[in-house]
Amino acid sequence: MVSINRRGGCKAAPGTGYESLRAAKQYEAMNPAVQPSRTAVLAALDRVRDPKSGKGLAEAGLVQGLSLAEGRVGFMLEVPAADAALYAPVREAAEKALLTIGGVQKAQVVLTTATPAPAAGVTRVRRGASVAPDAKADTAGMPPAERLQHVHRVIAVASGKGGVGKSTVAANLACAFARLGLRTGLLDADIYGPSAPRMMGLDAQPEFEDGKLNPLQAWGVKVMSIGFLVDEGAPMIWRGPMASSAMRQMIQDVRWGTDADPLDLLVVDLPPGTGDIHLTLVQKLAVDGVVIVSTPQEIALIDARRASAMFNKMNPPVAILGVVENMAFFPDPATGAPIPIFGQGGARTEAARLAVPFLGEVPIDIALREGADEGRPVVATAPESATARLFMGIARRLRDGA
Ligand SMILES: Nc1ncnc2c1ncn2[C@@H]1O[C@H](COP(=O)(O)OP(=O)(O)OP(=O)(O)O)[C@@H](O)[C@H]1O
Ligand SMILES: [Mg+2]
Repeated sequence: MVSINRRGGCKAAPGTGYESLRAAKQYEAMNPAVQPSRTAVLAALDRVRDPKSGKGLAEAGLVQGLSLAEGRVGFMLEVPAADAALYAPVREAAEKALLTIGGVQKAQVVLTTATPAPAAGVTRVRRGASVAPDAKADTAGMPPAERLQHVHRVIAVASGKGGVGKSTVAANLACAFARLGLRTGLLDADIYGPSAPRMMGLDAQPEFEDGKLNPLQAWGVKVMSIGFLVDEGAPMIWRGPMASSAMRQMIQDVRWGTDADPLDLLVVDLPPGTGDIHLTLVQKLAVDGVVIVSTPQEIALIDARRASAMFNKMNPPVAILGVVENMAFFPDPATGAPIPIFGQGGARTEAARLAVPFLGEVPIDIALREGADEGRPVVATAPESATARLFMGIARRLRDGA
């Protein structure tokens, strides 16, 4: 039999006659991925023992949010926070057991710690969800969000519209804060489209220690992303509660700092839109302020306006720290003169209308895009470039209270 490991590579099991990788790949081609049966999956999981009850994992009720798709299986192993270390090897054993099932090429078991059920009305989680009819109504009466332990200040980066450069701005701002000497973290809260692993150049699994996940580190910034816990693409098959639970864990169970070494600032990269995931986030995590990213054209500005309205309606309202205009212009390669590809000055006008600071114009910059794709943020790798200096200026203003 040939088993396929979770990164998609294959290896020949000993004694099967498939001694070489090529033979294994031929086998794979002849045996395409199929959706595994629920019965086969539960049976395989019951062969892994729950160390506490001695029962099989499925029988012990530890298999939550099971998702089956062609060639892949995933579920959440939800355990009490104090038992996270005990279950780390169980998680690995469960993934191995799933990979022995015919047709399964990818197995993902996400170890999460049990937390209270999500608040009523905050169960729908989808990418780019529309504005909640009345955000205040949803947050009124809720207990105030808790401050994260050992985190002094939390700044979220948001936009109404997708693809305007939030993650690029968040990653580079985080690097800029770190260069200013602030102990900085970056929380990638985009469950359905994590980008911090790629943008910060990280590819490793964070470790559980004493019931908490240790963030990874890059360019002087502590980073946590759902992308470290599951393969790219997997969250797309998750159901709402599974995604909510993953997000709660990302907020509550990460060791951002300690008594001796707290975090000065946590930058949160939000998913696009103004929907339930944002409400969940702001209910769970006390956010001190939001930076809105917009491109100059009207359509993006309308969405930025929605985003700002949503944060204003939160209970208590979240302060808008300012607006960053991204892709503001393209510098003429010959003369450097700005070519306003998406229009001109829209975000600056919008900031004035909202009576919030205009934090700056980030040009269309190929090096910025390449850096983001290669995991080399320009602020960290080309600090003397005009774009890096611009981000440093924005970071200074935010540090000093915009
Ligand atoms: N100023 C810029 N110049 C050139 N490329 C940019 C700039 N800002 C962002 N990009 C590129 O645009 C793409 C989208 O950016 P990014 O992923 O940061 O947007 P986003 O708002 O976070 O998207 P999503 O809504 O999907 O989370 C990326 O390829 C990024 O490298
Ligand atoms: Mg993004």
